Amino acid sequence: KGCKLVGCGSAVPALQISNDDLSKMVDTNDEWISVRTGIRRRRVLSGKDNLTGLAVEAARKALEMAKVDPDDLDLILMCTSTPEDLFGSAPQIQKQLGCKANPLSYDITAACSGFVLGLISAACHIRGGGFNNVLVIGADALSRYVDWTDRGTCILFGDAAGAVLVQACNSEEDGLFGFDLHSDGSGQRHLNASIKENESNNALDSNGSVFGFPPKQSSYSCIQMNGKEVFRFAVRCVPQSIESALEKAGLPASSIDWLLLHQANQRIIDAVATRLELPSERVISNLANYGNTSAASIPLALDEAVRSGKVKAGQTIATAGFGAGLTWGSAIIRW
Ligand code: ACO
Repeated sequence: KGCKLVGCGSAVPALQISNDDLSKMVDTNDEWISVRTGIRRRRVLSGKDNLTGLAVEAARKALEMAKVDPDDLDLILMCTSTPEDLFGSAPQIQKQLGCKANPLSYDITAACSGFVLGLISAACHIRGGGFNNVLVIGADALSRYVDWTDRGTCILFGDAAGAVLVQACNSEEDGLFGFDLHSDGSGQRHLNASIKENESNNALDSNGSVFGFPPKQSSYSCIQMNGKEVFRFAVRCVPQSIESALEKAGLPASSIDWLLLHQANQRIIDAVATRLELPSERVISNLANYGNTSAASIPLALDEAVRSGKVKAGQTIATAGFGAGLTWGSAIIRW
């Protein structure tokens, strides 16, 4: 059984923060940020915006493009590391889309690799599980976990949602040619937003005798990152992963029409393109406008490229995600 991509959509919050805006909050400037990262502005949740709402908007657009009714969905995968419910946000998306058949929906947590992992999971569900219409959403609001006084990280991230609809098809139409996925927990120290145990909780402390021990009360710390190590990891592992996915697909690098990487840093994107000997005309980048939107960055850039007519039906895309975990992976797909 094959699977193909039949629709895409995206949504971003209204509030835009430019590099100049950030320079009023921390000691930085537009030149430093744009030269080192390629980022010029980013969107950030504010007011009544929320991530679930963005995810639903992106999902509706993908369904509309695919001409698939929400009732015909049989799986929703919400790839996010910033869910609005610790128990998972996918069922809320299922509810808000009004899927009457109550399709299975669950979250996938793999930071900036989340969307690629979601795409492969969708294909596995279709090929092995008899599913027909799988909605894969990549959505993150890292702004909620950024330390806005840390100039090393707060300049990098933005919030967004993107979605694609993956549909069962016959093997001749198959649009997922090869993939490659990895993780390395020993690199977690370079990039994390770990749980922290709160110092004290008076109510619980005074009831300690009832429990016989002080129960733990926790929250998450802000994003901690060693930028140089993450940079090195990305430029080493991403080309290897794409080469491995190409090999599994039995395709040469020259068959790639578009390189669509997780949008983290323009210098990472350029280094990977150079290593794969792909000219800049074949590289998709919208990093300047949105920054690093984690699991949303690939479907957001894909959606813009498809709607602007840049990516055309039948073209081959090499896509790769990489980030916290550490996790990384790539997929060779046909639009
Ligand atoms: N403005 C001005 N100066 C700054 C800023 C800033 N925003 N941030 C850091 N600096 C300073 C530093 O303090 C340092 O000053 P010093 O030399 O006096 O000590 C100098 O600039 C150089 O800092 P570095 O951290 O060495 O800069 P680098 O060239 O490594 O660039 C960056 C930093 C942009 C973060 C880069 O390392 C990078 O992009 N790494 C990859 C990060 C990434 O992609 N992370 C996300 C992964 S996806 C996920 O899962 C979340």
